[in-house]
Amino acid sequence: MMTRRIADILKNGQPDESVKVQGWVRTKRELKDFAFVEVNDGSSMANLQVVLNPDLADYATVIKQLNTGASVEVEGVLVESPAKGQRIELKASSAKVFGEADPETYPLQKKRHSFEFLRDIGHLRSRTNTFGAVFRVRNACATAIHNFFQERGFLWIHAPIITASDCEGAGEMFAVTSFNLDKVPRTEKQEIDYTKDFFGRPAYLTVSGQLEAEIMAMAFSNVYTFGPTFRAENSNTSRHLAEFWMVEPEMAFCDLQGDMDLAEEFLKYIFKYVLETCAEDMEFFNQRIDNSVLATADNIINNQFERLTYTDAVKLLEKADKKFEFPVSWGLDLQSEHERYLAEEKFKKPVIVTDYPAKIKAFYMRLSDDEQTVRAMDILAPKIGEIIGGSQREERLDVLEKRIEALGMDAKTLWWYLDLRRFGTVPHAGFGLGFERLVQFMTGMANIRDVIPFPRAPLTVEF
Ligand code: 4AD
Ligand code: MG
Repeated sequence: MMTRRIADILKNGQPDESVKVQGWVRTKRELKDFAFVEVNDGSSMANLQVVLNPDLADYATVIKQLNTGASVEVEGVLVESPAKGQRIELKASSAKVFGEADPETYPLQKKRHSFEFLRDIGHLRSRTNTFGAVFRVRNACATAIHNFFQERGFLWIHAPIITASDCEGAGEMFAVTSFNLDKVPRTEKQEIDYTKDFFGRPAYLTVSGQLEAEIMAMAFSNVYTFGPTFRAENSNTSRHLAEFWMVEPEMAFCDLQGDMDLAEEFLKYIFKYVLETCAEDMEFFNQRIDNSVLATADNIINNQFERLTYTDAVKLLEKADKKFEFPVSWGLDLQSEHERYLAEEKFKKPVIVTDYPAKIKAFYMRLSDDEQTVRAMDILAPKIGEIIGGSQREERLDVLEKRIEALGMDAKTLWWYLDLRRFGTVPHAGFGLGFERLVQFMTGMANIRDVIPFPRAPLTVEF
């Protein structure tokens, strides 16, 4: 018999149907004449209730083995459930235990565990309700992202992870080494030249796939990357990871206006998709994690995002009747507290801030006629702060060359990037969405380490 997923059984299963399920025991309740076991296979928040009767082969042994965490395969017949809260349950005709879990040592008990505790047992936390819901929603977000771009004819490109260029120019790159450190005597370790480490040349883990996306956009018009990126910033916050996933669309023949329009449509699309496909999980987040999750989703889908320039944002922040820890003044970057004030308190919805001072933004952003600002945009989300960063790119060779020189960057290493401006240059624009920040925004999870299966942040590399 084919194994059926529990989500499908709970939704579509009919009385008298024979089914086989496989999963892990969540709870067991032994009564005098029978036992209930709740089985979960990760396909849904809800468990399937299995009823085991003493006429089952090896009843006593099986019941003894079926503790929380044990893996099991059950065959039987679906029956209408007399109990409240579930439509259907499974009357077992056979049960096979694959692996027991000793109740004395299995770390997941029926009580609620703190997320800190669960982070320490990252290999087991996906078996809890919260992390089950988080990773199903994360999967749905990824599906929505691909659907969105594929429906619009964007080509998914695979940007490299090992790269020589610092896209953001912030010097936050992890160096890649081809040395086997274990084979280098300890005393020589200090002498390794990390600038020549990748078989004689410098190489790093990518901070962004944008520059490669620009190359591909100059051939395919509309492309996107979706992959891991790395930042060697030692930020121990609930919004930063050393390894995070980024989605980066890049559009040829597009300006900042088109960029913002696409980003707004994109976020709305993802929220709609997740509400439709993960209704039960989203309900759970709203009830158990953050009671504004569903209202936020509704707000995103149905309201236009606020749009204002950096200059106007600074004016608002200067007038705000709130004490900020960091100073606000034209020319300084917005801090997370400023971003959150704008999105959370001032406008109570996502805010798109545009036209930042050139001095605080990356070399590739298009210089405006005022020569002070660039065609940049950041989308700030309530409770998250910056969730998307993007811009129209500098497509004029002479202006770009000047900018690179002014920043003291080495134009020689960017010869290929400049070539794109020499041969068939066009106005183009794109943005980067921090995928984990999106999942945080969607689920209300407070810590970014709890929305990625294997978080990499200072002090967290366990596997
Ligand atoms: O604003 P950022 O640095 O922009 C870029 O990398 C551009 N090259 C994107 C582009 O235009 N194609 O990063 C983009 C987004 C941020 O808005 C934030 O959501 C997320 O990536 N992000 C992080 N997420 C988790 N941990 C970190 N350390 C992050 N740094 C940035
Ligand atoms: Mg940014």
